[in-house]
This record gives sequence, structure tokens and C-alpha cells, in this order.
Amino acid sequence: MDNTKTWFSEWFNTTYYHILYKNRNNEEAQRFIKNLVSFLKLPKENTILDLACGKGRHSIFLNSLGYNVIGADLSKNSIDYANKFGNSKLKFIVQDMRKPFNIKVNAVFNMFTSFGYFDDDNDDIQVLKNIETMIETDGVAVVDYMNVNKVIKNLVKSETIARDHLNFNIKRHLTNGFITKDIDLTDKGEEFHFQERVKAIDLDKFTSYCEHANLKINHIFGDYNLSEFNSDTSDRLILILSK
Ligand SMILES: C[S@@+](CC[C@H](N)C(=O)[O-])C[C@H]1O[C@@H](n2cnc3c(N)ncnc32)[C@H](O)[C@@H]1O
Repeated sequence: MDNTKTWFSEWFNTTYYHILYKNRNNEEAQRFIKNLVSFLKLPKENTILDLACGKGRHSIFLNSLGYNVIGADLSKNSIDYANKFGNSKLKFIVQDMRKPFNIKVNAVFNMFTSFGYFDDDNDDIQVLKNIETMIETDGVAVVDYMNVNKVIKNLVKSETIARDHLNFNIKRHLTNGFITKDIDLTDKGEEFHFQERVKAIDLDKFTSYCEHANLKINHIFGDYNLSEFNSDTSDRLILILSK
């Protein structure tokens, strides 16, 4: 792993990223959390790591349910924001998920396609190995990913999204196994270009990654109501993992 600037260290740390995605459905995110903790029967004294937590929307909600929560993200700006909500049972840290963490938790949640950003498959596997090391013997992990089969089939090649005073011109393509979004915008006369690149990891590839990381796939769900996964029709690919 090198520490040179990458699209994910840049783009997720910008104000523009948060403006583009400001209409995220928090009600849906909270319903998903409720469904998960009920399905997993996680006791309230558990500690949960929200890995790649962004501004902490899942962490904050989990904490409001009574859990001890650690939110970790590479974006310092997002962690600075999340820290405003911190308390004795809710901590946030700036951390690269590819690097080992020295903590033990009952559960790791990796939510909303916060995976698959790295060119080298070994980096993705390293993230899963870190998860395996961090969970207790009876711990669980949740990886909430897009269903790449459906995303690729329905890829909108080009669109303009207006948010606040900005027009985000977006082009999407599948190139070298990555679903790539090129984002162009002009702000106060200055032109900006950003990119989002997420690997097209399907269930077979996740299965192989998990084998490399000594993680078992115990359940596979296809949406936030925890319905059965269908590779053609499901919106999400949600994996419930354990050692
Ligand atoms: C799609 S966002 C989702 C954020 C959050 N889970 C949510 O649902 O609001 C992906 C997040 O992954 C973080 N991220 C990207 N690369 C990372 C890395 N190497 N280590 C830790 N976090 C990373 C980004 O900063 C960003 O906050």
C-alpha cells in the first residue's frame, strides 16, 4: 500500500462529495440498522466498529440505541464533523481501513459500499483480514455492498444532477472491472474533476476474498429489509460474516 494521493482520499474529503450525496435516505439507513441488530441479536453492551463511517450517520444511530460505537474513516473532514456528536460511548478516529487497528469489537459494520476502492485485490483482502482480527471469537461482520450485476445492467451513462448552486455532470462506465463515475463541475468559475471507482465485486469474488481472510459467509441478503439475495434483481449484496 502506498500513501500517495488517491481518488478516495481526495474525493470523499471534499465538500462537493457531501453536497452531491446530501439527499441520502437516513430513514432507510436507520431501518437497516434496526433490522440488522435485531437479526444479529446484538446485546446493548456490545461494541461495534463502523468501518468507513463517513460523517457517522450509522454510528450515531447505533449509539442512540445504546451501543458502544467506534467510527473510523480516512476522511479527516468527515471525522471532524462526526466528532461533534461524540460521547463516552461514541468515538471517532481517522484511520485507513487497510492498516491494522489495535482494537477488539463484537461487530464490524461496513456500510453503503464502503469497500472495493483499491486497485490491488490484496488491499481489499487486507481490509477483510483486519476485520477478522478485530472481531471477537464469536463476533460478526456486515459488508453492505452494491449488487454489481444489477448496477452494471442499469448503468446510466450520463446525467446532470443539480444540487445547491452546482451542476454535477456525471459520466458512468465499466472499465477494467471498475464501475467508474467521472464527475465534472464548475464552481465560481473554477472547473473541477473528480472520480469515483468502485470494483465490480460479485458474490463469487467476495466468496474468494473471504476465504483468503478466513471469514465465513453465514447469510446473504439483497436489501435493507434483509430479503433473500437475487443476483439479477436485488439492490444490495449484504454479507453477514464470522470467523
Ligand atoms: C460511500 S462513503 C460511505 C460512508 C458511510 N459508511 C455512510 O454510509 O454514510 C465511503 C466512505 O469510505 C471512506 N474511505 C475511503 N477509503 C477509505 C480507507 N482507505 N480507509 C477508511 N475509510 C475510507 C470515505 O472517506 C467515505 O467516508
